[in-house]
Amino acid sequence: MKIIVAPDNRLNQVSKKIDIVDNTTISILDQMLECMYKNNGIGLAAPQVGILKRLVVVDCNDKSNNKKPLKLINPEIIKLSTENSEFEEGCLSLPTQYAKVKRPTEIIIKFQNVKGVFCKEVFSGLEATCIQHEIDHLDGKLFVDHISKLKKNIIIKKLIKLKKKIKNE
Ligand code: NI
Repeated sequence: MKIIVAPDNRLNQVSKKIDIVDNTTISILDQMLECMYKNNGIGLAAPQVGILKRLVVVDCNDKSNNKKPLKLINPEIIKLSTENSEFEEGCLSLPTQYAKVKRPTEIIIKFQNVKGVFCKEVFSGLEATCIQHEIDHLDGKLFVDHISKLKKNIIIKKLIKLKKKIKNE
């Protein structure tokens, strides 16, 4: 799996729901997790690897200790807290770029697990931020869509330069 770097049209698409959770779905999620760990990320959404399906993996735990991978199929936010938290966000599709983003501190999501069973779970803090960031990807949104246009344009310009540099190396 190769991570797509912004700006790229594939990162602006709305991903499709998974109808049936099968072995292919599970295999994609496992490969996504492997890709995420390899790149030292804490979250990855399927469109970032060119798969326009509503699949997300997250692991906000300390890498060296116990891993706590979350595999979310068709995740959907059903409740947001009114209280907000601010975190400095990054994204594997926007390498070396960071910005402070304000999002609800606590969320309730529904999703299907790898057995296809519908689940409901509460998340808060970094995990809540990370899951909201990843669900944004499924709707074609990036963290820079939450900051000022000016700051976003600076980041996008830097990424265009970075992509050119990579291409010429
Ligand atoms: Ni991201």
